[in-house]
Amino acid sequence: MTGAEKERYTVTPWEVRGDIDYDELVERFGTSRVDDELKTRLEKLAGDLHFMLRRNIFYSHRDMNWLLDEYEKGNKFALYTGRGPSGHTHVGHLMPWIFARWLQEKLGVELYFQLTDDEKYLFNFDLEMEDTHSYALENALDIIALGFDPEKTHIFVDTDYIHTLYPLALKVAKRVNFSTVKAVFGFDNSTNVGSIFYTAMQSAPCFLPSEREGRMVPVLIPCGIDQDAHFRVTRDVANTIGYHKPALLYNKLAPSLDGSGKMSASVPKTTIFTTDTPGDVDSKVAEAFTGGCMSAKEQREKGGNPHICAVQNYRFFLFEEDDSVVESIAQRCRSGELLCGECKNLLKDSIKSFLKEHQARREDARNKLDMFLLKD
Ligand code: TRP
Repeated sequence: MTGAEKERYTVTPWEVRGDIDYDELVERFGTSRVDDELKTRLEKLAGDLHFMLRRNIFYSHRDMNWLLDEYEKGNKFALYTGRGPSGHTHVGHLMPWIFARWLQEKLGVELYFQLTDDEKYLFNFDLEMEDTHSYALENALDIIALGFDPEKTHIFVDTDYIHTLYPLALKVAKRVNFSTVKAVFGFDNSTNVGSIFYTAMQSAPCFLPSEREGRMVPVLIPCGIDQDAHFRVTRDVANTIGYHKPALLYNKLAPSLDGSGKMSASVPKTTIFTTDTPGDVDSKVAEAFTGGCMSAKEQREKGGNPHICAVQNYRFFLFEEDDSVVESIAQRCRSGELLCGECKNLLKDSIKSFLKEHQARREDARNKLDMFLLKD
């Protein structure tokens, strides 16, 4: 990688910055592209194709063909994904979870969901352990609200499940040295020792289904491509410690409302949280970056540019499943017929109706937590 490329954008588990070139990232990380053949295979097994696959939002993978070979032989896989509870959930976080729910529904697979309160405590000097633990339980409500099957879904908070996770993490930790984590994660001598160990904790759930079921269970991790560094490490040691390497299916990161990079919880004004009120949604979308012109008159004449528009991107990534609706809105924007105000109103309505239902299911989930949580 040249210095210039390094400058253009950064994608690591701790930092996502700049204008991400997703095609180049595939080369940089050495992952594979989700091609038409793989999509056809998934469509055959699932009965349809999720819009996030159709739109290449889930666009890159490791070992998906092996995973599906095993599945076709009758060797069912388990899903694993996770969340670092540093605050409330925002809608960008929901992408891989919505996708995992679809896979669970279509293929009847188990899901293991890790809430890394330890990670966020270690990496964040502003957060106390009580904070990360209580955010973990709040985030669990969002997971449950998406409609996962309680019989097949196991959510765990690291500090409440450490007795089970620790032996698995130790197996990994013994085989990963300091120079590897320095190189992979950019750590240096000032990094605290908890952070240096942490990647072993994120690896542990890859082996948990095998331990619980007493057989070699293949694991598929749907997640943002920013997590790849962890799973490169996991995959390097998996066979040595007697397990399959996890397979991965990576999504592009949901864009921010200001049109830059990734939606980030640390910039609340450009991020929609699942706990936002209708008023929050109105004011955040009103401020969004668009591809519109300086004046309505100019836009009627020249048309807008939906390609760079954060409002259209939100629709594309999350809030409109129907491709023909996404395209017809883009078309009306380009022709100058649809102006930004009206277009923003359409998005506000979609987000508000999603949140209204989600928030009701989220409150309902408070009584269901025990059905989902794994504890020692
Ligand atoms: N490190 C992730 C985060 O900060 C949390 C996480 C733990 C995770 N295990 C995972 C994410 C597995 C994706 C897949 O959000």
